[in-house]
Amino acid sequence: MGIRIQELLPGTMNIDEIHTPVLLERCVELLAPALNQPGAVLVDATLGMAGHSEAFLTRFPGLTLVGLDRDLEALSIAEERLKPFRDRIHLVHTVYDGITDALDSLGIAEVQGVFFDLGVSSLQLDRVERGFSYSKDAPLDMRMDNTSDLTAEHILATYSESELRRIFHEYGEEKLAARYAKAIVEARATAPLVRSAELVAILTKVTPVVVQRTGHPAKRVFQALRIEVNQELSVLERAIPAALDAVAVHGRIVVEAYQSLEDRIVKKALARVSTSSAPAGLPIGSADAGPAVIIAATGRAAAVAVVEAELGRRVAALPR
Ligand SMILES: C[S@@+](CC[C@H](N)C(=O)[O-])C[C@H]1O[C@@H](n2cnc3c(N)ncnc32)[C@H](O)[C@@H]1O
Repeated sequence: MGIRIQELLPGTMNIDEIHTPVLLERCVELLAPALNQPGAVLVDATLGMAGHSEAFLTRFPGLTLVGLDRDLEALSIAEERLKPFRDRIHLVHTVYDGITDALDSLGIAEVQGVFFDLGVSSLQLDRVERGFSYSKDAPLDMRMDNTSDLTAEHILATYSESELRRIFHEYGEEKLAARYAKAIVEARATAPLVRSAELVAILTKVTPVVVQRTGHPAKRVFQALRIEVNQELSVLERAIPAALDAVAVHGRIVVEAYQSLEDRIVKKALARVSTSSAPAGLPIGSADAGPAVIIAATGRAAAVAVVEAELGRRVAALPR
């Protein structure tokens, strides 16, 4: 990986000044029973700038870490930050639904933990030219993986009015989805949209002033475009079952979800495997038919949800 760490970090920030991740202690605590096992392997499916991973590797000296990220810049920073642990880490450039292939390529049959810290990283938000922020003018990009093809610009240029309306409504939960889709289609007939400021101006123009007082008009549209560009929800729907398949008996999966659409997908996927398949009348906890996953704790604090699952047995064979 090409290392230009100082260029990748915002402003004059140094690699040891990267902030401590939210909920770090809680995540360590939740994963500890699994990661304290001898020879434990953890997949950090959203490595980012490796704040969590650095803490896991420090707290669990016998731990091997497999770090996944779809963002090459994040992987470069993580590689630099995790240099002291280089003998215990494997970093893989992949979308996290590729967890099975990533483990196969490393010859790892099962792991004790999988960790997800969902969403965009502060690195991605702070790098203006990547186009994630509606508050700074930038190209309409929004790709977490800049080797992939689909950009926000392409979506805005090619999706039909009804497709735009659907993504704004479903992924942005935007009440003005129809109005915004119509305004975009009208505007692009004159000139293609290439900069975020152009999009913000179009949305602002058709947003009633009273609505503008309740929040930035572009907030939900930008969220929807980011989700569509990165196919975030469909990838997550495939990733949780893949993570469950990878985890050994007594392993743990911990997910930090900050957004309701993701939170719902995670809880639904875990609830499906935590439902007992025991025929009526059999005692709950029967060795073969009890719940495959026990959801040990589900919490919501401010915009944060933590879901933890402790597996009773491998779930690969269970019907989905
Ligand atoms: C919130 S940040 C993680 C921060 C990290 N836990 C830390 O402590 O620095 C999320 C990271 O996950 C990555 N990411 C998001 N969706 C992904 C996906 N579907 N596959 C792989 N990586 C993904 C992003 O590129 C970003 O680097």
